[in-house]
Amino acid sequence: MKEEQPYNNILAVASGKGGVGKTWFSITLAQLFARSGRRVLLFDGDIGLANVDVQLGLTPRKDLSSVIRGESKLADAITHYTTNFDIIAGRSGSINMASISLSRLTALKQELLELARGYDFVIIDLGAGIEQYVQFMASIASRCIVVVTDEPTSLTDAYAFIKLCTTKLHNPAVNVVVNQAASQKEGEKTFAALSTACQSFLKFSPPLLGIIRKDNKVRDAIRAQTPLIDFASHTTAATDVAAISIKLMTKVPA
Ligand SMILES: Nc1ncnc2c1ncn2[C@@H]1O[C@H](COP(=O)(O)OP(=O)(O)O)[C@@H](O)[C@H]1O
Ligand SMILES: [Mg+2]
Repeated sequence: MKEEQPYNNILAVASGKGGVGKTWFSITLAQLFARSGRRVLLFDGDIGLANVDVQLGLTPRKDLSSVIRGESKLADAITHYTTNFDIIAGRSGSINMASISLSRLTALKQELLELARGYDFVIIDLGAGIEQYVQFMASIASRCIVVVTDEPTSLTDAYAFIKLCTTKLHNPAVNVVVNQAASQKEGEKTFAALSTACQSFLKFSPPLLGIIRKDNKVRDAIRAQTPLIDFASHTTAATDVAAISIKLMTKVPA
């Protein structure tokens, strides 16, 4: 039986396919929230790959491994990045997620829910795929933002994740972000393709939260291990994520 939908301020950023821009989007969104005076916690849910800290050029002294071993509290794994912007890094290469007991995971979830009370937003940057741990992390969030590109594998994986939300998860609010779009129009086409598949097979089509255009400055900023907003605050992709952040801060999309 599916769980009740939790109502909380936790957003999970998902995609199914890797390399679509989840981590970059999560960081950029978090920074825009923080700059607007919202307290935000970015949780790197892609355990072992340490996405967030590498993109930001951080070497966090704390991460999830000791929390997962039950040796410290989740709050102790927080790194204060900038004003209003905290991070829980995922660098835990020695941890095999499959070996973590359900009771440990449940305790982690409880601690994250408690921590979330101290923030306006918690963003969980999920790993690729739809395996157990991804599902577990997604189940903590009341809203899943599915990032998709125009690549066929991205579309099918995004569909698989949306299906998971409507079948196995607790039916969180689901929104779509089209990333790396050649133009607004191309982005709309990508969304329409996903939407049509969802409507015909799931009888449900998640709303579009926004379109982010392809922008070479994104790669340049990642190479420089600097958040895009610090690197080129008015570049196309930054403007597109800013529009999404405003939507999330001002009105709750369906
Ligand atoms: N809007 C964009 N424009 C151009 N390149 C992008 C954009 N978004 C993401 N990328 C590229 O995609 C790569 C993968 O991003 P990443 O956030 O690591 O993806 P994921 O977390 O989904 O695996 C980045 O290194 C960057 O070069
Ligand atoms: Mg990532």
